[in-house]
Amino acid sequence: MNHSRTYTRRDMTNVLSTTARRTLIAPSILSADFGHMAEECRSALDAGADLLHLDVMDGHFVPNLTMGPDMCRGLRRAFPKVTLDVHLMVMHPQNYFEAFVKAGADHLTIHIEAMPPADAADQALELAEDIRELGATAGLAINPPTPVERFLGLVEHFDLILIMSVNPGFSGQAFIPEVLDKARRIRPLLRHDQRLQIDGGVSPANAPTIRAAGVDVLVAASAIFGLPPARRSEAIALLRG
Ligand code: DX5
Ligand code: ZN
Repeated sequence: MNHSRTYTRRDMTNVLSTTARRTLIAPSILSADFGHMAEECRSALDAGADLLHLDVMDGHFVPNLTMGPDMCRGLRRAFPKVTLDVHLMVMHPQNYFEAFVKAGADHLTIHIEAMPPADAADQALELAEDIRELGATAGLAINPPTPVERFLGLVEHFDLILIMSVNPGFSGQAFIPEVLDKARRIRPLLRHDQRLQIDGGVSPANAPTIRAAGVDVLVAASAIFGLPPARRSEAIALLRG
């Protein structure tokens, strides 16, 4: 892909690209009330959330359909300064990069499992470059059944590594504790400007073990939006530790 321009607002901060090693909490809007999305996000941000995580599903890569660039655009309008982290659980993710970045995404994560197996590594590297050329940061995600060895050589080329702790598709699933071995393998390979994210089944109960494994960006949908607004700041504080 050859892009003539970048779209990211240069005056804004992408919290995923800052080097400060603070644990970040990323509410996944998948469990928010879609009829009151801006209010829901406002409540999570007021409760201390650091960014918003958008789960994009295409009904092919995962058996669910969720949201597209228009949701991103709406959130960007409502929250001009908030980092928008877009998790692409779709086939052919490259078809959507430009639309999401134009709609205000700061960060795009792609899945290794969405790449053609014959040249997954080469394609992942190429797509990381395409994402950065557009002005966003790039993440690479790995599903629970995928061996970490498929991934280790790619780690240095991404701004963020996302370890899935459920099989993607739906909020509210149980955390798969075995994936923490992947976090422990990947953490020592990361530079100070890279982030390690986990997504799926994250709760105040398992957050201490997750952080101890080296994860510094915790995504949570039901553990935040499953609570009434008044209880969300306590949940976020517990997740952050
Ligand atoms: C899983 C999505 C997650 C999901 C997390 O397919 O990528 O972001 O919404 O939901 P909880 O936190 O409820 O497991
Ligand atoms: Zn996600």
